[in-house]
Amino acid sequence: MLLNTCLIALSGLIAAVSATVVNDTIRVQSYNLRYDSKSNTITPAKTFASLNKTVAYDFELDYYSTYSEQAWSTRRVEVANQVLFNAPDVLCVQEALVRQVRDLHGLLDGYDYVGVGRDDGVQSGEFSAIFYKTESVNLVSSSHLWLSKTPYEASKYDGAGSKRIVTIGNFTTTIAGSPFTAMCTHWDDKSDDARQYAASMIRYAGAYEAEASDGVVLLFGDFNSQSSGDDSGGYEIVTGESDMLSMNSTFTSDYASDLSDSFAFTDLLTVTPPRFRSGHHATFAGFYEIGDSDSFGRIDFIMAGNNGGWSAQNYRVEENFFDNEYHASDHRPVLADIVIGSYTT
Ligand SMILES: *[C@@H]1O[C@H](CO)[C@@H](O)[C@H](O)[C@H]1NC(C)=O
Ligand SMILES: *[C@@H]1O[C@H](CO)[C@@H](O)[C@H](O)[C@H]1NC(C)=O
Ligand SMILES: *[C@@H]1O[C@H](CO)[C@@H](O)[C@H](O)[C@H]1NC(C)=O
Ligand SMILES: *[C@@H]1O[C@H](CO)[C@@H](O)[C@H](O)[C@H]1NC(C)=O
Repeated sequence: MLLNTCLIALSGLIAAVSATVVNDTIRVQSYNLRYDSKSNTITPAKTFASLNKTVAYDFELDYYSTYSEQAWSTRRVEVANQVLFNAPDVLCVQEALVRQVRDLHGLLDGYDYVGVGRDDGVQSGEFSAIFYKTESVNLVSSSHLWLSKTPYEASKYDGAGSKRIVTIGNFTTTIAGSPFTAMCTHWDDKSDDARQYAASMIRYAGAYEAEASDGVVLLFGDFNSQSSGDDSGGYEIVTGESDMLSMNSTFTSDYASDLSDSFAFTDLLTVTPPRFRSGHHATFAGFYEIGDSDSFGRIDFIMAGNNGGWSAQNYRVEENFFDNEYHASDHRPVLADIVIGSYTT
C-alpha cells in the first residue's frame, strides 16, 4: 500500500519533470499575386522545361534588367518556390484568377484551398483564396460573404470599382487541435466608403467567429490603402479606432454575438517585438526599376482578433524582385509566425 503510493507519487514526479510545454506556432502568409493580365496557355511543365540549366557566369549578368510585368506563366515559378521554401501553414492569396488558383494547387504539393471567384461565387473573377498545408492544419468549415449591402449575393457596393469578397475558414492545428479562423480579403481600390463598409462587415463577422469557435481569428488582406492618411477609413474601422458603419440587417442578425461591441483586429506588425520585425516596410512595390519607390506603401496586412489567445513572434515582408529574375508580383509577400496555443510532450 505504502509502496504503491510511493510508486504513484514517484511516477507523477517523473512525468512532471519530463513533460515539456511546447508552443503551437503557425506560419501564415498573405500574398497579392497580381492577376494574370498577360494570359497564355503555357503549362507549368512547359515553363519548367524551358528553364536554363546552366548557371550564368557572374560577369555575364545584367542585374535587375527585367523589371516589366511578366506573364503569370513565368512568375508562378518564383511564387511557388518561395511558398514552398517558407512553408506557411496558411497562405492567403488575392487577385488570383481561377487558372492561377489551379496552377498553385498543382505546384504547392501538400496544400489544399478554399475560395470562390468573386464575380459569380464559383469560378469567375478574382479569388481571395485560402491555401493550407494539410499536414499541419485541418479545414473544419468555410464560407464567404460579399462586402456589399447584399452580402449573400454576388454583388458590388455602390461606387466601388469591383465586387469584393471575404473568404472565411475554420481550422484546427493537427498537432494540438488549436482552433483558429482565417479571413482572407481584398478591398476596393476606388472607394473608401466601400473599404469602410468592408471593414465593418469583417470586424462584425470576426466577432461572431471569435465567439462561435472560441479561437484565434486571423485577418489577411490587401486593403488597397495605408494605415494612416485620407484613405485609411477601412484600417481605422477594422482596428477599432473608428466605429463600424451600419450594415445589412439580415447579416447583422445572422452574425450577432456578445463580442460585437468589443471586438476589433490588431495589426500584427505593431505588436511584434521590434527585434523580430524584418524585411521590407512597403508591401506594394509595383513593376518599377530598383530605387523607384514613389508608389510604395504598406497596404497588405496580417491581423489577429483582440479576443486574445495568440502572441506575435515574427513578422517579415519578403522580396518580390530578385536580381537575376523578374517581379514575382507587384506586391510583396507578408509572413508572420503566431503562437496560437500550446501542448505537452
Ligand atoms: C543559358 O545560360 C547560359 C549562361 O548564362 C547562356 O550562355 C545561354 O545563352 C543560356 N541559354 C539560353 C537558351 O538562354
Ligand atoms: C466556424 O465554426 C463556428 C462554430 O461551429 C460556426 O458557428 C461558424 O459558422 C463557422 N464559420 C465558418 C466560416 O465556417
Ligand atoms: C440584406 O442582404 C440580404 C442577403 O444578401 C438581401 O436579401 C436583403 O435584401 C438585404 N437587405 C437590404 C435592406 O438591402
Ligand atoms: C512560446 O510563446 C511565448 C509567447 O509568445 C514566448 O514568450 C516564448 O518564448 C515561446 N517559447 C518558445 C520555446 O518559443
